[in-house]
Amino acid sequence: MMTERIQKKEYLNKIMTAMEAASLIKDGMTIATSGFTPAGYPKEVPKALAERIKREGTGLKINLFTGASVGDELDGELARAGAIKRRLPYQTQKDCRDKINCGEIDYIDMHLSHVSDFVRYGFLGKVDIAIIEAIAITEEGYIIPSTSLGNTPAFVENAEAVIIEVNTRHPKELQGMHDIYQPLKPPNRKPIPIISPKDRIGDTFIKVKPDKVKAIVLSDIPDSVKSFPSIDETSQQMADNLIGFLENEVKKGRLPENLLPLQSGVGSVANAVLGGLVKSKFCNLSIYSEVIQDSVLDLIDSGKVNIASGSSLTLSPKGMERFCNNIKEYKSKIILRPQEISNSPEVIRRLGVISMNTAIEVDIYGNVNSTNIMGTKMMNGIGGSGDFTRNAFISIFTTPSTAKAGSISSIVPLVSHCDHTEHDVQIIITEQGVADLRGLSPKEKAKAIIDNCVHSSYKDMLREYFNKQMNKCHISHRLDEALSWHYKFLQTGTMKNS
Ligand code: COA
Repeated sequence: MMTERIQKKEYLNKIMTAMEAASLIKDGMTIATSGFTPAGYPKEVPKALAERIKREGTGLKINLFTGASVGDELDGELARAGAIKRRLPYQTQKDCRDKINCGEIDYIDMHLSHVSDFVRYGFLGKVDIAIIEAIAITEEGYIIPSTSLGNTPAFVENAEAVIIEVNTRHPKELQGMHDIYQPLKPPNRKPIPIISPKDRIGDTFIKVKPDKVKAIVLSDIPDSVKSFPSIDETSQQMADNLIGFLENEVKKGRLPENLLPLQSGVGSVANAVLGGLVKSKFCNLSIYSEVIQDSVLDLIDSGKVNIASGSSLTLSPKGMERFCNNIKEYKSKIILRPQEISNSPEVIRRLGVISMNTAIEVDIYGNVNSTNIMGTKMMNGIGGSGDFTRNAFISIFTTPSTAKAGSISSIVPLVSHCDHTEHDVQIIITEQGVADLRGLSPKEKAKAIIDNCVHSSYKDMLREYFNKQMNKCHISHRLDEALSWHYKFLQTGTMKNS
């Protein structure tokens, strides 16, 4: 078994326990790991590191870079051990989020496509150790990554040392799914030669200098991917509105009948949208996105999707079982890429990707907040939503029109934090309807959003706010009122007028 997974004989004497490998990590180091939403991240070494810190009470802290969100064994264990000083670029783990929001962890919320370049260019300082989950190591010593690619190739290339966790839980048949291409640094960078989501342009393994590999640790822990709750009525209505919008674009001749490559964000609404496509009349679809989740398997099984390109295979335990039972078929239709390629602005713009992401709140002019609740509490991070929105053929945001049982309007006078500006956001969809903002002036956008997307409990209030400003200037706000809705919620527990 061991020699099947670790084929380079010289590496067998580098096998050690997770605790021995964790002892290589010193205070102040920058540790960069594999892992993307939350698939393919190392588990044994971070758990051992957290245990060591708790046992020894050393107060050791590290800077932690990943692809995107990772599981509890990494973000959770290390956050609870007080071991994270600086974290980037995206997280979804509760304890890590709490420590970010109380100021204990410095969080750098970055566009996912930027991270590999920032490491390559030296903008983030040196990476001391890369910890990479693999399914196997080849005779040449090359790494076969597991369920995600994220920033792994750039981390391996730029780190001073590499620890490999060989996870025997993942099927070794994953070998061949990855397509690893690393751009050169400017001024020598070439165009990324992807002209269709199905194009393969690189290797299926990651090269690493053997003397950089300092430890190999065995693991058998599965990715901790949760199943989605069943789709509620509001999400279903948003999915129906979105599919109706796409059908209308086809009718008007602005999209081909099999659409253009689709990107779908994270969360329950995104899941409902992909579920809605299974029931739609669209076929021969392609996906150029980040995360391949269970709903993508549904789309492949129903014959709707011919090819799905992403950076991670984020499958629930049931989804993984299904994947393993039909691995040959799925392997022919799924490609895993580094996130600088899955999220590359150049490729997204060339392919004409239709981006579909979820907003926390939207303002009447079409600015979107995806990250900070009430402008001050970090939720997850911008993730890839900016990479896709800014460069999409059509950029779409969905959000329920209200949150917290109706006490919050998701459409507000002014967003309390802005991730996506009105220059990039084209379509807003709530369960109430669709606002098409393309080619509209700010005043026209406000009218379209209020008329089509706002919940009835807040429509008159927003009209009143807007009408007070109308015709005053290009974008008009009363600065004393613009954030008063948020302030009122924080004071009274509702944005509604008493
Ligand atoms: N004001 C205050 N709170 C709000 C809110 C608003 N306008 N809208 C939602 N919330 C709260 C919800 O009540 C919920 O709170 P809870 O955790 O206490 O239950 C929380 O925000 C998440 O909302 P939910 O409806 O469960 O969201 P979701 O699972 O659909 O995720 C995002 C929505 C925006 C958080 C998620 O899509 C995200 O992180 N996006 C940014 C990254 C991204 O887009 N990545 C994809 C790019 S490929």
